[in-house]
Amino acid sequence: MLTGRAYVGVMSVFDRMVPDDFEQVVFCHDANTGLRSIIAVHDTSLGPALGGVRMRAYPREEDALTDCLRLARGMTFKAAIAGVNLGGGKSVIIGDPKHDKTEALLKAHGRFIQTLHGRYIPGMDSGTEMRDLEVIATEADRVSCVRNDPSPMTALGVLEGIKACVHARFGTGSLDGVKVCVQGVGHVGSSLAGKLVAEGAEVTVADADGPRAKEVAGEIGATKVDADALLATPCDVLAPCAYGGVIDDSTVDTLRCAIVAGGANNVLAEPRHGEELQARGILYAPDYCINAGGLISLEEEILGHDEQRTERRVRSVGKLVADVLRRAEQDGVSPAHAATAMATERLTALSAVGPKYVSR
Ligand SMILES: NC(=O)c1ccc[n+]([C@@H]2O[C@H](COP(=O)([O-])OP(=O)(O)OC[C@H]3O[C@@H](n4cnc5c(N)ncnc54)[C@H](O)[C@@H]3O)[C@@H](O)[C@H]2O)c1
Repeated sequence: MLTGRAYVGVMSVFDRMVPDDFEQVVFCHDANTGLRSIIAVHDTSLGPALGGVRMRAYPREEDALTDCLRLARGMTFKAAIAGVNLGGGKSVIIGDPKHDKTEALLKAHGRFIQTLHGRYIPGMDSGTEMRDLEVIATEADRVSCVRNDPSPMTALGVLEGIKACVHARFGTGSLDGVKVCVQGVGHVGSSLAGKLVAEGAEVTVADADGPRAKEVAGEIGATKVDADALLATPCDVLAPCAYGGVIDDSTVDTLRCAIVAGGANNVLAEPRHGEELQARGILYAPDYCINAGGLISLEEEILGHDEQRTERRVRSVGKLVADVLRRAEQDGVSPAHAATAMATERLTALSAVGPKYVSR
């Protein structure tokens, strides 16, 4: 019989699942490897749920669950708005990727993924690399990012999205002389920063890993600042490419940019921060829209399409961002609001087609 305490615990997870219509959340534990991970399948109306495996030393289990749920839901909206026929899911492994990641740990996570029989397809995310997905693929049948790292395609889509924002704000699509601050120069941020410099932008980078920021800045010809100074650095475009929750009550008034447009997921700590940016005259490119390039490239890989077609589709993220900004203008709402409406419209239309994804 459930004790009152356990009952309250179980209810609190359902309390989180029900309002946002989550299909399934799996908590995984393996005593031999010390694995503690969570798999969230948000919505499979459009297809099996694809989403990266994030590994992070979360301070509390609560933070891991919150991150996993938000990321999984974001994947549903990303696929919906980008015309991708995949559902939304994500998984998180609790642990420091630098010290706790072992082959056995990844295999244990892979076994739990396999119990879902393809309803959740894992990929890369912060804290995991292509070689980690190769390990997971020794246990799970359906795994993405084994042949291709989607990060350069994510960065390409973000680049096109930034151009769309610059055009909307300054009336020119050229990035020549445009000042861009890139927060986080990992897989996506370093690729984006290089592409921006190649387009003539004046790029400033920062990373929590200071030596890495210095190395990337030196390689591409960018300026480096300390991580805690970046948000307040005056610029035209702030491109968050680290973790989520960057725009919150404490940071929104420190921003010195005209546009927020980057690769990170869940840039806004809460949806209302989209309106807060709007109120301060800052143009915001909704994260799951501007960073959809990687997901598009993974769908193209599943469909077996060639590189030219993939690149064409990824570059169309620029048009998608422009469409969202136009819709926001027409409806008199913030871009974040407009993107939610556009994604929901496709989800609702296609949910009516029939049952959700069932693995065979
Ligand atoms: N990889 C993809 O294709 C992809 C696709 C869509 C969205 N995203 C999102 O983009 C973001 C980055 O992904 P990634 O794959 O490049 O991850 P990554 O782990 O390779 O890079 C993240 C970088 O951010 C740095 N960082 C962390 N906190 C920071 C802070 N406060 N200030 C400055 N730097 C900080 C880290 O040191 C690291 O170098 C994540 O939010 C991820 O969910 C990635």
